[in-house]
Amino acid sequence: MINIGLAGCGYWGPNLLRNFSICPNCKVKAVADIDDKNLKYVTDKYPKIITTNSYKELLKSGIDAVVLATPARTHFSLAKEALLRNKHVLVEKPLAMSVKEGKALINLADKRGLCLMAGHTFEYNAAVRELKKQLDSGAAGKPYYFYSQRLNFGIVREDINALWNLAPHDISILIYLIGKMPLNVSCKGYAFIQEKIEDVVFMSLTFPDNIAAHIQVSWLDPNKVRRLTVVGSEKMIVYDDVADSKIQIFDKGIKRRNIKDSLGAYDDFGKYQLIKHAGDVIFPQINFAEPLKEECQEFVDSIFEKRKPLTDGENGLRVVKVLEAAQKSIEKNGKSVSIPGTRT
Ligand SMILES: NC(=O)c1ccc[n+]([C@@H]2O[C@H](COP(=O)([O-])OP(=O)(O)OC[C@H]3O[C@@H](n4cnc5c(N)ncnc54)[C@H](O)[C@@H]3O)[C@@H](O)[C@H]2O)c1
Repeated sequence: MINIGLAGCGYWGPNLLRNFSICPNCKVKAVADIDDKNLKYVTDKYPKIITTNSYKELLKSGIDAVVLATPARTHFSLAKEALLRNKHVLVEKPLAMSVKEGKALINLADKRGLCLMAGHTFEYNAAVRELKKQLDSGAAGKPYYFYSQRLNFGIVREDINALWNLAPHDISILIYLIGKMPLNVSCKGYAFIQEKIEDVVFMSLTFPDNIAAHIQVSWLDPNKVRRLTVVGSEKMIVYDDVADSKIQIFDKGIKRRNIKDSLGAYDDFGKYQLIKHAGDVIFPQINFAEPLKEECQEFVDSIFEKRKPLTDGENGLRVVKVLEAAQKSIEKNGKSVSIPGTRT
């Protein structure tokens, strides 16, 4: 039995609490939050759980693992403190606010033989996994470009911008699907509501093999949109997280046929003919389980099995590398910034 301590029970923490409470082989023993009203929510709903205002007390409450659902800027110091006390750690996205911090957490966890996991929930999402299966099977042909929109009239954060708050999901999905790190990023961000906290971000990424990707994130939009479109040489696939049919596969594409040979010397039309095809739209059946439930189970299983979780520290660090480069690009008014490291 793994005893879990949850830190942070604001908006996202209750979802982690609910899922860990039904997860086999673990028990949520204690919850810490600096806000009493969030602790009251816990004692009302889960009277057996110990509650405290103090993170230090949480670490002393006989737990084996810590789950951090606190604001992003606290992740590094709280995760470090937990690892130093020999606790396994699940950190909600983003893993840390810099590459340097992320690397330090990975080194510390490795040195102590502890599990460090990043909460990249969408890598546990059945629709995203179906999309990966489609792409890996080659059914869509060569992927040309991806574009992702995560928009909402939503919760405006005062501590971090829309890039660090929303884009970790899109970046983790793209790296997962493409299986490689992007080479460079150029990013523009616009702050309208609060000074220096960008509400809207437009990011362009170049991946190896001439794959292009674009990410748009915003909490200042009239509509809730969570959509990723992949255009391949053979098929086009849309993943729409808010639709009933989350994956839509369009049998659409444009091929270039070399007609020089058939025209011989009378090549008046140029060398190529463009052949367009548009066939059926397929909606694959997806057996959907709550992605967060899968994520929580993976954390517990990886501790039991003494192995790295699917979204381990390195996985979290890859996303932070892209975020850090994108932030630099915002500060340089959209100039392209190269991203260090390739996917292993
Ligand atoms: N995976 C997902 O889909 C997803 C979705 C939403 C949020 N998140 C992540 O979850 C984390 C929390 O986000 P949120 O929207 O719930 O934020 P929030 O501000 O609503 O909640 C954070 C909570 O942490 C508490 N807190 C702050 N410092 C603390 C400390 N030192 N010790 C104990 N408690 C402390 C606050 O009182 C608050 O209740 C963020 O990292 C966010 O990126 C992930």
